[in-house]
Amino acid sequence: MAVASESATVAPLNSDQRLSLQCEEISTDTSTIRCLDWDRSRFDIEFGLRNGTTYNSYLIRGAKTALVDTSHLKFKDTWLQLLKQQIEPTAIDYLIVSHTEPDHSGLVGQIIDLNPEIEILASKVALQFLQDQVHRPFRSRAVKTGDELDLGTNPTSGNAHRFEFLSAPNLHWPDTIFSFDHGTGILYTCDAFGMHYCSDDVYDKNPSALAPDFRFYYDCLMGPNARSLVQALKRVDTLPEINTIAVGHGPLLRDHLKLWVDDYREWSSQRSESESYAAVCYLSQYGFCDRLSQAIAHGIGKADAQVQLVDLRACEAQELSGLIGGAKAVVVPTWPSQPDAELQSSIGTLLAALNTKQWVAVYDAYGGNDAPIDEVASQLRSLEQKEAFLPLRIRKVPDSNDYQRFEEAGTDLGQLLSRAKTMAAMKSLDSNLDKALGRLSGGLYVVTASQGEGSNRRRSAMVASWVSQASFTPPGLTVAVAKDRAIETLMQVGDRFVINVLREDNYQPLMRHFLKRFPPGADRFEGINVLDDAAEGGPVLLDALAFLGCRVEQRLESPDHWIIYAVVEQGNVADAEASTAVHHRKVGNHY
Ligand SMILES: Cc1cc2nc3c(=O)[nH]c(=O)nc-3n(C[C@H](O)[C@H](O)[C@H](O)COP(=O)(O)O)c2cc1C
Repeated sequence: MAVASESATVAPLNSDQRLSLQCEEISTDTSTIRCLDWDRSRFDIEFGLRNGTTYNSYLIRGAKTALVDTSHLKFKDTWLQLLKQQIEPTAIDYLIVSHTEPDHSGLVGQIIDLNPEIEILASKVALQFLQDQVHRPFRSRAVKTGDELDLGTNPTSGNAHRFEFLSAPNLHWPDTIFSFDHGTGILYTCDAFGMHYCSDDVYDKNPSALAPDFRFYYDCLMGPNARSLVQALKRVDTLPEINTIAVGHGPLLRDHLKLWVDDYREWSSQRSESESYAAVCYLSQYGFCDRLSQAIAHGIGKADAQVQLVDLRACEAQELSGLIGGAKAVVVPTWPSQPDAELQSSIGTLLAALNTKQWVAVYDAYGGNDAPIDEVASQLRSLEQKEAFLPLRIRKVPDSNDYQRFEEAGTDLGQLLSRAKTMAAMKSLDSNLDKALGRLSGGLYVVTASQGEGSNRRRSAMVASWVSQASFTPPGLTVAVAKDRAIETLMQVGDRFVINVLREDNYQPLMRHFLKRFPPGADRFEGINVLDDAAEGGPVLLDALAFLGCRVEQRLESPDHWIIYAVVEQGNVADAEASTAVHHRKVGNHY
């Protein structure tokens, strides 16, 4: 008989890499084992806010016992040890695999070794992927929307546990399922509704602290699949009342459940409204496709354009044809030079569904034996479509500069798609209002930001005039940064940046330089005299009048800008006699 779970914390594994574990009862017969990864950094695009992450798994005991998800391989010894303290592995009857991303399914092989009789429940696609991942035979059952798993009644609590499954493809992997336990009202969603936020709090106690991470995670992982989310939410609405969403990353959503679900509804319906979208294709479990496609998709989303991620391996032919045919732009990875028959057939469907009015583009998957990128590009352009951006080449394991380059290329593409909307918005202002607004003026500044070291150093810059002091104690300012600016990615809460104040008597060369249209990933400082170490957070321009070193405290969202409030930590003036350049405008519908 299973041991009752209790709250326990296992000490960090080592002091360099803070990893710890937590086990807590969350409902009747239900406990969570959370692996806390305090320092997981932002190298992966969605880890933007550097608050670490958690990998959550769940144990549910009826007459039979189910485990929902495992953990990341880095927790192999400690997670298995803690699990064994809770239950003898051979007493676990079922393992529900919400999706096969390795941070949740990394220890499935070990579970099979400990309990070869365990039955794995997952979507059909997930079971196929798992076979390639674990290389061991296992008992399995494919589940989809409406299928159930009855765990029966727990003999001690008298509570019955019955799982109902919902297909939730693309959230954020193609093979995702949600599982709802009718016995406790808990919905298990793994990646969906999650956030990368590591703390000892099991629940969402403090929503204002969590909100920026929740939003950032949504923008990176869920937004590109807003259409799939709307569909999944419709399925969720058919369930009885949910009291907790047990996520795979971050705190469980219970105390402010409605708030988070309403956010998902609002953001997803906004994003899926428009007819025009870019289809960003990828191949799951091939090279760096997954992360690279996310970087492109994130960039497209920044420009307020719709995007749909499409897994060429998992998408059914008819759906694939519809998604590609309906897209305004199609982005494709290099595929293996010798694709298997199924993939070959998907590629055929993809190429046949393209049409002449689309923008197209290609990126390297860096999968090991990719077809040459120029060959793929020319197949894609066989109908003489316009190229949205130059082929994105990868010659080594992608680093943060590559992800930045891919994101910027995505933003360029997004701007192509949202151009008509932007022009209409510029024309929509009443001309008197417009002229009056134009009488607001500001100084002229170059905002710079830099993160990372060596080959992982990322730098960016932009000209800004919407900068204003916003507090005395501590000294603080706001800068309004358009949502599609490249530098926006480097200005998340906690990030540092520098405001370079331009001089009235020599601002023009610097302004001309930084207003150039830079290709994706270009070094925006080439040919400019900078001091890299004078301020924390970004280069200081030698020809600037003054600089202010800032740390982002808060971000307020306006329809097209992020209003970034930052505390000023450093500052210096190069010439006490000179004045700040001022920007006078005639109209308020542009800068
Ligand atoms: C005078 C002037 C002031 C500007 N002020 C701002 C600003 O405050 N915020 C902003 O997001 N963009 C501002 N811009 C636009 C950006 O500087 C410019 O489009 C940007 O450098 C392009 O960078 P991107 O490639 O990242 O979009 C301004 C442009 C000009 C000409």
